Amino acid sequence: MSTPAHENTTGTAYDLQAQRYAHFADHHYTHHPLHRALIPTLAELALPDHPVADLGCGPGHVAAHLHTLGLAVLGLDLSANLLTHARRTHPGPTFVRASMARLPLAPRTLGAILAHYSLIHTPPEQVQDTFTEWARALAPNAPALICFQTQEPGQASQPFDHDLAPAHRHSTPHLLKAAGAAGLTETARLELAPSQDTRRGWVQTHLLLQRSP
Ligand SMILES: C[S@@+](CC[C@H](N)C(=O)[O-])C[C@H]1O[C@@H](n2cnc3c(N)ncnc32)[C@H](O)[C@@H]1O
Repeated sequence: MSTPAHENTTGTAYDLQAQRYAHFADHHYTHHPLHRALIPTLAELALPDHPVADLGCGPGHVAAHLHTLGLAVLGLDLSANLLTHARRTHPGPTFVRASMARLPLAPRTLGAILAHYSLIHTPPEQVQDTFTEWARALAPNAPALICFQTQEPGQASQPFDHDLAPAHRHSTPHLLKAAGAAGLTETARLELAPSQDTRRGWVQTHLLLQRSP
């Protein structure tokens, strides 16, 4: 199957700005504790003796955080340049170029999935297939954590003016419906108040899901 156009656009866009984005993202994650609030929880909930995937890992700092919490971490991304940065900067995890929509993994392999501000680059109509792929790769009962800029209640997902690549502000009910159809159900959510998004003043949601048994 050929790579969808939006994935080529996204990978190229991050390739061109890899150093700048790596600096921004690492700094942001380090200085905003709420953005890492559920990462230790995900690490605790992750199934033992299974690798954990950071999907859309970018420069690798969150994968590295998960690694320090004792997990075997696989970071996947579309951007070859960000992956080069990740491998050079964070020796713990394994970093591989692949799409979160087509995981190079056998069924029921993963002990957890993280998608930290990366699902925003998946168009809403393709979220369902992506979640089905995640459910295939996750072991039964394994958790998934998705962090995303969030559409206002009652409004559909819609594009926003992301600096680098086409992106969507997803609607939480839309994501939950797609997740439910794939066998992923909500276990918890953290909503960061609009004041925490200093650039746009939007809610940012951290949604914890669990794969069905
Ligand atoms: C906003 S950055 C977030 C990076 C990192 N997770 C963080 O929190 O800093 C989005 C990342 O997702 C990656 N990405 C977007 N769509 C992807 C896909 N379908 N498969 C794999 N990676 C993807 C991009 O290449 C980019 O590195």
